[in-house]
Amino acid sequence: MDQIRVHGGRPLHGRLPISGAKNAALPLMAAGLLTADPLRLTNVPRLADIASMTSILRQLGVRIERMDGIDGAADALTLSGEDIISTVAPYDLVRKMRASVLVLGPLLARFGEATVSLPGGCAIGNRPVDLHLKGLSELGAVVEIESGYIKAVAPKGRDGTGSRLRGGRVAFPFVSVGATENLMMAAALADGETVLVNSAREPEIVDLARLLTAMGAQIEGAGTDTIHIQGCDTLSGAMHRVIPDRIETGSYAMAVGITGGDVLLEGADGCLIEAVIETLGDAGVTVEVVADGLRVVRGSDPVIGVDVMTEPYPGFPTDLQAQFMALMTVAQGASMITETIFENRFMHVPELGRMGANINVHHASAMVRGVGRLTGAPVMATDLRASVSLVLAGLGAQGTTTINRVYHLDRGYDRLVEKLSACGASIERVPSERAAAEE
Ligand code: UD1
Repeated sequence: MDQIRVHGGRPLHGRLPISGAKNAALPLMAAGLLTADPLRLTNVPRLADIASMTSILRQLGVRIERMDGIDGAADALTLSGEDIISTVAPYDLVRKMRASVLVLGPLLARFGEATVSLPGGCAIGNRPVDLHLKGLSELGAVVEIESGYIKAVAPKGRDGTGSRLRGGRVAFPFVSVGATENLMMAAALADGETVLVNSAREPEIVDLARLLTAMGAQIEGAGTDTIHIQGCDTLSGAMHRVIPDRIETGSYAMAVGITGGDVLLEGADGCLIEAVIETLGDAGVTVEVVADGLRVVRGSDPVIGVDVMTEPYPGFPTDLQAQFMALMTVAQGASMITETIFENRFMHVPELGRMGANINVHHASAMVRGVGRLTGAPVMATDLRASVSLVLAGLGAQGTTTINRVYHLDRGYDRLVEKLSACGASIERVPSERAAAEE
């Protein structure tokens, strides 16, 4: 397997382009199932998760054409759901990515039935899909689990012909990004009005609402905790630009915090990460809104320990917890980091410990005592955000850090090595044959 090698200790300087958001692009692609017309998405990041969603949609019969961006520019996708041939999303494709479950709502809404493999657990926790299923039941679907598959069928239409979901009231017991997205897509083609209470408020929800509105849906309240959706008989095609990736933005801002330096995050949107910008400011990392993105600066003063608790948006995102912890390992003073979204999201802790970090975990909280500087070591990536936290730690460490299981990074960081190298980092991807030969 490929490795990433980082020789630490170089400050970052220059311009670093921010890609389109993975977590926005995935539901937007699933929305391609809602219409027979073409949907054109631009600013799509080049990632393994996008390739996984492409495979699933193609298997269902969606035609997908990709226009590769030139010179590092973003890709565009045209999706055409005119000739859907199947409403079954099989295990071998769904197991690769949890977000595959986002095809459930659109398939059920447009075709009256869907069979989707249960995505199963993942490294950061159990992650059930009960809220998605309960929500769809509130819209009249009959949902059963059979042989590891979710089988959902819509009720008979009110006019007695065909089957169609019925608008209803769905009150989520706690906030779920994916369940909110699945229900928004399902409700867009349901008969009548749906009200989603205690919805997620993430920017990716707002982006999905923008696309669905461009397709002809009537949606109010996206970005607040109550969303009203008036169902339509059909939706049409649309063009849509994916929002910038706030998690990629925050990750690179934290990289600059660790190494020191001055980097322009091109195309980044500060409005999407206000809580992160505030926390970084408290830690001594300046993030300033400029004309073409965000400028991140950390001078010679050390980073200061700051406490953080992850929360649904607009709070501090769980997807930046591991990266922030990497930053706090080299801070002056201590930091208490509390994870409230996922039960098992501290797998980067022992790996950071191998690099000399001083971290004690007690239940959902980690006490990080800053050590000034880490030392390079061979480490193992365990999940997407944990992997990038090890890259960040390596950028600031003395000596060489080798990160194994790089495929996690390929899921969510578009051209990571190129982007960091262009800002002065000493980082390379070592192909598996060379890595094996050198061991
Ligand atoms: C999305 C993001 C992921 C991010 C997470 C939280 C995508 C593709 N992924 O994941 O990067 O870390 O939001 O911001 O957008 N839960 C249930 N039952 C359900 C659904 C969720 O118990 O039916 C639990 C989860 O296990 C978790 C919490 O609710 O503890 C929040 O999960 P959710 O917001 O649904 O995360 P995802 O949409 O899977």
